[in-house]
Amino acid sequence: MAKLPKKLEQKLEKRRSNDALRVLTDFRDLIDFSSNDYLGLAKNHDLANATAELLRQKKVNSNGSSGSRLLTGNHILYKELEVFLKDYHNSEAALVFNSGYDANVGFFSSVPQRGDIVFYDELIHASIRDGIQMSNAKSYKFVHNDLNDLSEVINRSRKDLVDGSEIYVITESVFSMDGDTPNLEALANLCAENDCHLIVDEAHATGIFGDKRDLICELEIENKVFARIITFGKALGNHGAAVLCSNALKTYLVNFARSLIYTTALSPHSVASILTAYGYLKKHGEKERAKLLANKDFFEKQIRLLQLEGSFVKSEAAIHCLIVPGNKKVKQLSELLKMEGFNVKPILSPTVKEGEERLRFCLHSYNTKEEIARALQIVKSHI
Ligand SMILES: Cc1ncc(COP(=O)(O)O)c(C=O)c1O
Repeated sequence: MAKLPKKLEQKLEKRRSNDALRVLTDFRDLIDFSSNDYLGLAKNHDLANATAELLRQKKVNSNGSSGSRLLTGNHILYKELEVFLKDYHNSEAALVFNSGYDANVGFFSSVPQRGDIVFYDELIHASIRDGIQMSNAKSYKFVHNDLNDLSEVINRSRKDLVDGSEIYVITESVFSMDGDTPNLEALANLCAENDCHLIVDEAHATGIFGDKRDLICELEIENKVFARIITFGKALGNHGAAVLCSNALKTYLVNFARSLIYTTALSPHSVASILTAYGYLKKHGEKERAKLLANKDFFEKQIRLLQLEGSFVKSEAAIHCLIVPGNKKVKQLSELLKMEGFNVKPILSPTVKEGEERLRFCLHSYNTKEEIARALQIVKSHI
């Protein structure tokens, strides 16, 4: 095979020497404290059968979508899903993308224009950063979840505004690394006072917060938000994402979001699977959510009991992170847990800041109390 160019080899070598080399691992047969399958829908065989039944009922039998949504890929299930999503999440319109990554890159690369300004939380997801980088707008970060800082940054940047400049503010309703939540009501008010468009990525809230919908719905502030991004790869146990927005913005994205236009659409099976997952969520979501919340309570009780509370990042969500500074150390602890049968992922720098490396516990409805207690015991005896 051809040799890797020297500059690429050097970058890999740097990763190796920082103990930060990423590898694809096999995690089968391990106890799951790592996946985003919060409610166990990805593993649910009844759902797989229901998806096959839905495809039979709708007489849809093609394997692939056969083209992009603007060409031959926009099969009938897309319309059904988008109508369902706009009603369920209380929005004027919904536009489905192939993934949350695609939705964010498509949105942020096409919506903010030259002369506009984007303010983003410093811990915002990589997909949003990538989208912003592809746009022609100026962008500034603000201190994580700090509305005073956002307010100051907005005021400082007023000098950069030209006639017709728009301001966009972007945050997440549940942050993927810390599991915390901004004060969304106050943020929405701040945006309204400063004439900013607020966009909220709801990836880790979709289907588990706010009456099984999302946090913006729970707070009833849908009309104060310019757009929401929901994803189906986490609590819905599927794949794909949607932008919830006005009809006009949907039309704009269909015309200008390149990650929607220049890619093959989701297969009928994928879209049917998202629809059946929502059907299951409507029927059984409360039961699964109650199990998840009970596990979260138990987890928090155990960390207090083991006096580990101080080392964990404060979290309102099903993500709990134990700070273990240093890539080497956090990787060792994760390996040790793996040897004992647990899959708990180490989050390394540069994904998080140096010194804030962490073990990221994702809790699920299907974890048992024994599994939680045992995993935390192992951690306690090795830090
Ligand atoms: C906040 C947030 N937004 C977007 C994404 C990307 O979603 P997807 O996995 O569907 O591409 C993720 C995935 O981890 C995420 O955590």
